[in-house]
Amino acid sequence: MNRLLTAAWDWFDARMPTVGEEWRKHASEYYAPKNFNFWYYFGALSILVLVIQIVSGIFLTMHYKPDAGLAFGSVEYIMRDVPGGWLIRYIHSTGASAFFAVVYLHMFRAMLYGSYQQPRELVWIFGVLIYLTLMGEAFFGYLLPWGQMSYWGAQVIVNLFGTIPFIGPDLAIWIRGDYVVGDATLNRFFALHVIALPLALLGLIAAHILALHDVGSNNPDGIDIKKKKDANGHPLDGVPFHPYYTVKDIAGAVVFLAVFCAILFFAPEMGGYFLEYNNFIPADPLKTPEHIAPVWYFTPYYSILRAVPPLFNSQFPGVMAMGLATMILFFLPWLDRSPVRSIRYRGVYYKSALATFVVVFLVLGYLGVKPTTVWGQFGFDAFFLDTKDIATWVARLCTILYFAFFLLMPWYTAIDKCKPEPERVT
Ligand code: HEM
Repeated sequence: MNRLLTAAWDWFDARMPTVGEEWRKHASEYYAPKNFNFWYYFGALSILVLVIQIVSGIFLTMHYKPDAGLAFGSVEYIMRDVPGGWLIRYIHSTGASAFFAVVYLHMFRAMLYGSYQQPRELVWIFGVLIYLTLMGEAFFGYLLPWGQMSYWGAQVIVNLFGTIPFIGPDLAIWIRGDYVVGDATLNRFFALHVIALPLALLGLIAAHILALHDVGSNNPDGIDIKKKKDANGHPLDGVPFHPYYTVKDIAGAVVFLAVFCAILFFAPEMGGYFLEYNNFIPADPLKTPEHIAPVWYFTPYYSILRAVPPLFNSQFPGVMAMGLATMILFFLPWLDRSPVRSIRYRGVYYKSALATFVVVFLVLGYLGVKPTTVWGQFGFDAFFLDTKDIATWVARLCTILYFAFFLLMPWYTAIDKCKPEPERVT
């Protein structure tokens, strides 16, 4: 058997040596730092979730009908009548949340270890583009079941474009293809969700990994392993990606899949956080739900949108703030002036700033899922302030802190007292 396989491979390799060369370049002879830790699982896990989404998406498309009159019913048909359809649908809906969970942890790793710093700026920029595309992908996908939240969520978000001065109203009509969210909107969102954005994602992910492999991976110490090489020219602190990290990543994938399956089989709706209850009601253009909230992964930005007060009756300042909150990520490599990369050797300013940023992001996320009256449940009503005001002011404070983390970064990273970096990985 072994001889047969070797002969087959030799035959193939003689005719298409590129495959073997690329395998060596990106796996068996790609020297990755030997100190990768827990945080380094999430890149590989993002690829795994991408594959899960594409495969489950293909099967959903076999039974789904992109038609405003049939869409909701076709999803119910998948859930009740198609053999295994409920499983495929829940895999895809849970996969969407899992995607954001692993990508957020993956981005946080970059902030922990300064992975966006020179020479990995392009890796980071491709990453932010992936993140924005992923947001688009999730938004378009959410319209497809044609439930109340699909419909009204899309209505709210497309109307945001309508607030842009001069071009806004026409732009909103152009995006919807109609004066209201309707069949035309559903058809184009379907096209974007199943083909355009997945293709863009695949291209961006390829660029992301190629850019990384050109400069080499960062690591939890944030030091350059290429500076110290052995007699063969291999980094002393590096190990070949295959088999060392392929095995490590498979172990990570097993743990991830266990958690994924637990959610899938026991709490696929996650108390309304992964699939909102209102979305089990067919879309009704004549009945606005009382509380329209996006899915959890968008809520930090939704909070920022709600926190900024309107100007001359226009929501545009909030829309601008929300847009800037995502765009500012592109500039991170140039805002950070620290001489060291890893949090291990940074001073107290960056450590406190990052910790505050995480708390602020979570609080914004929490406030975004709740109606603005959320604080009433804690008895705040008894005080002189309207509960709605307290939640809004907390969101405002968090919005300011969110931007301060980035805008003050050139200052606090420059004056931070860093520790000396080690010569070799620890
Ligand atoms: C579908 C989404 C994504 C996939 C499949 C993906 C994949 C990967 C993979 C396989 C790696 C190498 C292994 C690792 O370091 O974990 C990596 C590294 C990296 N990614 Fe991503 N990524 C995604 C999204 C993002 C996003 C949204 C960002 C940031 C905005 C980002 C920033 C980075 C950075 C800075 C590195 C280098 C890390 C280092 O060397 O320390 N990635 N990515």
